[in-house]
Amino acid sequence: MTKITPKTTPIYQTSVFTFEDLNELELYFEQPGQQYMYTRYGNPNSDELAEEVNKLEEGAGAVVTSSGMSAILTAVLAYSQAGDHVLCAEEIYGGSAALLSQELTRMGITVTYVPSEELYSLDSHVHSNTKLLLAETMSNPLLQVVNLERLAEETKRVGIKLVVDNTFASPVITKPLSLGADMVIHSVTKYLSGHSDVTAGVVVAGTADASERVKQIMRVYGLNLSPFESWLAARGLKTLKLRMRQHSINALAIAEFLERHPKVKQVWYPGLQQHPQHKLARLQGCGLFGGMLSFRLEDNEEAVNRFMRALEHIPFAPSLAGVSTSISHPLRTSHRSLSPEQQQKLGITIGVIRLSVGIEETVDLLADLAQALEEV
Ligand SMILES: Cc1ncc(COP(=O)(O)O)c(C=O)c1O
Repeated sequence: MTKITPKTTPIYQTSVFTFEDLNELELYFEQPGQQYMYTRYGNPNSDELAEEVNKLEEGAGAVVTSSGMSAILTAVLAYSQAGDHVLCAEEIYGGSAALLSQELTRMGITVTYVPSEELYSLDSHVHSNTKLLLAETMSNPLLQVVNLERLAEETKRVGIKLVVDNTFASPVITKPLSLGADMVIHSVTKYLSGHSDVTAGVVVAGTADASERVKQIMRVYGLNLSPFESWLAARGLKTLKLRMRQHSINALAIAEFLERHPKVKQVWYPGLQQHPQHKLARLQGCGLFGGMLSFRLEDNEEAVNRFMRALEHIPFAPSLAGVSTSISHPLRTSHRSLSPEQQQKLGITIGVIRLSVGIEETVDLLADLAQALEEV
């Protein structure tokens, strides 16, 4: 028979694997990891993706999931159950807040949101049943940078786990486990896959025990990622380092341009000197600040609409972190489910626009933004 040795992993688009006989089946149970049985329990494509992300995050084991949301669910369930209490940084992706406040509370897991200024002194928020704190390395959408080393010291001191959503930073910029976090999650939908064609998540555990637990949750709740999506994401991941560098170069140039523009009231980008955590971002991010930034036009719906309509090459698409630039509107999309008071408190007003800067030529992006701002 012709010897077939593909350079890249083929797609194992199968829901089940076959066995020769009962002896071979017994080997599957006796020697875990040697064979596959059923794709929900494990598949070569999802395992490859999990292993690659695990290496990048320097974890003890990882599991990929059907979305970033199911990764967050897996991480929270790994450390808590009915009757427990979790803490969550107040500046967090709206979907994470909805999962905690609207769904997990119904299952008996209560949540308290911790304002950013209180993140490093948790005594007044921690109860005897508090199990974990969920925070983002760089918050969505206002790019607040969390000092993960300090936060890990504080969560250890009060005896709870630290779960970090590292979606905005990616492991190229920050590796939370090496700074003391217990678990890392990503919406793989974003930078890790990078091409706006996959919905996926990953949970990376800091210990072998936690890794076994998240794998168990993924299998039993059926949160697995399909072979094809795993393959696409693993393919995207190969260029992550290159992409992150270009995203960061472009975003810094655009942030500096917007900062000087008379129609722009405010810019949030950790690479700018005036950003409140600029020094921390520089240290924690190896000199790269990522591809996400937000800015505020006047707080007027028509001004926002005019700007969006005038952009010729940058679409309004409510996601982020793809190779091509897009804008989003946090108030009406990602943070829609927050109460008006929460939105107001976080500073997410009608004029705030989030820009996911791609890897195109910097001059082309600047030209499109400049002409659209003229229309505001
Ligand atoms: C920071 C962050 N975490 C998690 C998620 C959820 O990921 P997914 O949409 O892949 O479920 C998102 C989605 O935008 C996000 O921005």
